[in-house]
Amino acid sequence: MTILVTGATGNVGRNVVEGLVRAGAKVRALTRTPDRFRFPDEVEVVGGDLAAPETVRPALAGVEALYLFPLAYLTPQIRSFEDVITTEAIVGLAAAAGVGRVVMLGSSDPDFLGLERVVEESGMAWTILRPGEFAVNKLDQWGPSIRSGDVVRTAYADAWGTPIHEADIADVAVAALLEDGHAGAHYELTGPAALTLRQQVAAIGEGLGREIRFEEITHAQARAELIAAGIAPEVVDEMILWYPDNYATLVPAVSPASEVTGRPWRTLTEWAADHADDLRREES
Ligand SMILES: NC(=O)c1ccc[n+]([C@@H]2O[C@H](COP(=O)([O-])OP(=O)(O)OC[C@H]3O[C@@H](n4cnc5c(N)ncnc54)[C@H](OP(=O)(O)O)[C@@H]3O)[C@@H](O)[C@H]2O)c1
Repeated sequence: MTILVTGATGNVGRNVVEGLVRAGAKVRALTRTPDRFRFPDEVEVVGGDLAAPETVRPALAGVEALYLFPLAYLTPQIRSFEDVITTEAIVGLAAAAGVGRVVMLGSSDPDFLGLERVVEESGMAWTILRPGEFAVNKLDQWGPSIRSGDVVRTAYADAWGTPIHEADIADVAVAALLEDGHAGAHYELTGPAALTLRQQVAAIGEGLGREIRFEEITHAQARAELIAAGIAPEVVDEMILWYPDNYATLVPAVSPASEVTGRPWRTLTEWAADHADDLRREES
């Protein structure tokens, strides 16, 4: 059976592709720029843009299962839910093309519920993944400081988060694409432990094998630094307050996901070791 992976060059998508290939599945990967990204040789690479749904129609021919990437929050600067609506159109095209199974990358953010409804009512057998904060966000948030020095400066040192390794999300997607028994499931996915921001920085340092110091700064200092880095002020306010605002809803992982994959959840320390090249100290 052919499985179409959308968002295939993305953090989760590329791991979905690799996991499916490892399992011996026939994979078709959708990207806007087929020549840019190096996929495993076994993968059929096809062009298409989720923001222009008609361009995706040919890629759906003969597909039995779909990994659906939602266009939303692609960068901290772009937050348009019109992009989710274009993803809704892909769901309709997939159902019309005879795709039997869909695994949607959603979010713990309720803004994705509209797209979830469309998937649930599509007639396809569906599984919805609702991950919280991705560990890979740290590359944008803290990567520049970790590469250029040994200090991370952040406000709200004692706010909690449960960052999840993108490969763990992908493992759940692969299981749901290949195995029976996941239809109708909403999988709430978090990392394996709740860590304060201070603890997260320490865990990343451990994974990189060097000490990264944490320096707590005030809300006003953090705001000024992010705005100076070119991020729009209204986005900055949301970014800084995300941790304290979400504290009450963040619980240590009690997700059924490790039951799904049968393997222990990857820690933030493992995540950092996996991204050692992305976080390598630049020589000054
Ligand atoms: N970051 C978080 O903490 C978090 C938490 C929960 C949920 N989420 C959700 O997870 C998703 C991000 O997943 P990810 O990190 O795996 O993806 P990602 O790394 O942001 O990759 C996005 C991929 O989408 C593809 N794409 C297709 N059409 C596009 C278009 N018109 N414009 C821009 N990109 C397009 C791009 O592939 P090509 O360039 O090859 O076409 C790109 O590789 C978002 O929907 C986000 O809301 C994120």
